[in-house]
Amino acid sequence: MCIISYADITFSPVSKNKIGHGASAAVYRGIFKNLPVAIKQFALDNPNLPRSKSLLLNEASELMQLSHGNVIKCFGVCYEICSIILELAA
Ligand SMILES: Nc1ncnc2c1ncn2[C@@H]1O[C@H](COP(=O)(O)OP(=O)(O)O)[C@@H](O)[C@H]1O
Ligand SMILES: [Mg+2]
Repeated sequence: MCIISYADITFSPVSKNKIGHGASAAVYRGIFKNLPVAIKQFALDNPNLPRSKSLLLNEASELMQLSHGNVIKCFGVCYEICSIILELAA
């Protein structure tokens, strides 16, 4: 798994950067390695619990196992902001 440091992404969770919302997460626009990315931030009661970390790992690793033009790429997990970092579909 690729663990991404918060220091390496540009992220501000404000409404102008919000691009979507689902059952489990809010999705924001951000920058990683000079690329525009989607930052999917999960709403977790306690991010430090092992099961919170597993949830992030599971979602990221499933996407990272796939390589197909119709599947969004995942760059990795950023634990500090409970997020997975995704290719931006814009
Ligand atoms: N990689 C992405 N690029 C652009 N928009 C995205 C991306 N991922 C999610 N979104 C937007 O955010 C919404 C919620 O994301 P989703 O993955 O469905 O969250 P949840 O797992 O909570 O249902 C999507 O319906 C879409 O509008
Ligand atoms: Mg959804």
